[in-house]
Parts: sequence; C-alpha cells; structure tokens
Amino acid sequence: MESAVAGETMARPGAAPDGEPVSALSVQNVSMVFNRGETQVHALDHVSMDIRDGEFIAIVGPSGCGKSTLIKLVSGLRTPTAGRLAVRGRQVMKPRGDVGIVFQSPVLLPWRSILDNVMLPIDVLKQDRTTGRERALALLRLVGLGGFETAYPNELSGGMQQRAAIARALVYDAPLLLMDEPFGALDALTREQMNSELQRIWQASGKTVLFITHSIPEAVFLADRIVVMSPRPGRVLKIIANPIPRMRTLDDMLRPEFGALVREIRGLLGGHVAGGENHGTRAEW
Ligand SMILES: Nc1ncnc2c1ncn2[C@@H]1O[C@H](COP(=O)(O)OP(=O)(O)OP(=O)(O)O)[C@@H](O)[C@H]1O
Ligand SMILES: [Mg+2]
Repeated sequence: MESAVAGETMARPGAAPDGEPVSALSVQNVSMVFNRGETQVHALDHVSMDIRDGEFIAIVGPSGCGKSTLIKLVSGLRTPTAGRLAVRGRQVMKPRGDVGIVFQSPVLLPWRSILDNVMLPIDVLKQDRTTGRERALALLRLVGLGGFETAYPNELSGGMQQRAAIARALVYDAPLLLMDEPFGALDALTREQMNSELQRIWQASGKTVLFITHSIPEAVFLADRIVVMSPRPGRVLKIIANPIPRMRTLDDMLRPEFGALVREIRGLLGGHVAGGENHGTRAEW
C-alpha cells in the first residue's frame, strides 16, 4: 500500500523503568461468567497468555468458546469475573482508546459515508482531519475500496463493509490491533490478498495483533504463535510457536511444516471448529 500507511515504522513502546520489557498484552487467569437470568454461562476459564510487543497472535477455537468475549475484555468493553488483563503494563479497567478493533460483523454508521466511517476514530479522538483524511483515503485504496469513499454502508456488500471496518481500525495508528474474524465474510481470493496485506502492514508498523479466526490455515499463515482453545468454558489448550519464516507467501502454505502445523491444531481441536468455513486455500487439508 501507499507510503501513507505501510511506509511508517512505529516506534516500539519502551521498557519498564526497571529495564524489564513490558508485555504488550498480559492476560492472567482470566475467567468470565455471564449471568442470564437463572442460568450462568461460563465463557472463559483461567485463560492466561503473555503477548510480546510486535507479536502476531492468532486464536482458534470452537464456536462459543469465548474468543469474542476475550476481545471485549482486552478492549475494556467488559470486566472479567476473575483474573487480570494489562496492556503494556497498565491494567485494563475501562474502554481504552489505544486499541484498534475489528468486530466480528462490521459496525458502520449508516448515516456516514464510507470515508466518514473510516474517519470516525480521527473525529472521536479529535486528531488532525487533514492528515487523517489522507490516511483514510490510502487505507480505503489498500482494502480495495478506492472509488467508494462517498458511498453509504447500505450501498456496499457485506464483504466490502467489513473491509471498510478494517480500514477504520487501522486509521488511528493504535499499537494494539484486535481483530475478531475480520475476513470471515470475504471471498477466498480477497481473503488471501487481505492476509498478505495484513502481514505486510503488521511488519511495516510493528503493531501487536490479536487475531481470531475459524480458519486454521489462515492462523498458520499469519501468526507468530497460535493459541488453541477448548470448547466452552474456553481454556487455553496449547500455545504453538510457528517456525515458518517471514515474509510468508501463499506458496508457503504448500510447505510440509505448514501442513504439519495445520494437522497439529486440527488434532487439538478434535473436529470442534464449528462455524469453520472452508478457507479456500490452494492446498487440500
Ligand atoms: N453478553 C452476553 N450475555 C450472556 N452470554 C454471553 C454474552 N456474550 C457472550 N455470551 C456467551 O458466552 C459464550 C462465548 O461467546 P463468544 O461470543 O465469546 O464466543 P466465540 O468463541 O466468539 O464464538 P464464535 O466463534 O461463534 O464467534 C457463549 O456461550 C455466549 O452465548
Ligand atoms: Mg466470536
């Protein structure tokens, strides 16, 4: 993408005063129980993970195991029943402005044009509109929506709306990006292109990314480490380091190591990847 976005190299957040590097995101023994009338839904059970600055983490797990709930806890939209979450050493207590979020379904304001939807964080955070606009336009081109700036959400397909939501999450240069199945609604070819673009943006920007997906190959293509979760109540079954070197290309999906990782994750999930659509990769899994 044009230099307005991908060319930037973000300064990495520093270390703690005592010299210890601070986790970009620390999740310690987090449990979440929802009360629904008489019944309780135990969504997450003692979930822990430590994410390094600049790391790309993918989370895979069966439908209903608490993945979206985890995103809401990290962003401060909800408070855990037990445990602690901290972003760069600071405990998450309330919704925070320094994270970019792509929700599972695109949440666009119907009365705002696509450009103005992407500009929303700039307006909310009262950032400079001229720079913000340039950035928004560049991001819209990046996600293949050049020419749709003045369109309204209802004039776009579901996949296009989701791409606009992705542009919006990137417009404010948040060091932490939370992405909840961002590419689920895209066709296979666009999804592959978005995977490659996301890898490039991530490498150029140094962002820390927490990425939820139902597609095991997508997780292996994108992530440094893959967190595999159990069915509800969601627990961490295993955190798997991905040795495949960067920059990865779609052809890397044909490597034996790639297939081995996919098989390992599939084995852990034991056929539980509900809602898992076919990813449409070139290889058969
Ligand atoms: N606001 C809520 N009130 C009550 N229960 C909730 C609430 N939000 C989520 N849950 C429950 O918590 C569990 C986990 O939901 P969550 O949306 O986090 O799952 P998920 O892993 O993201 O699933 P999917 O892969 O289908 O998106 C589910 O049983 C869900 O019904
Ligand atoms: Mg979800």
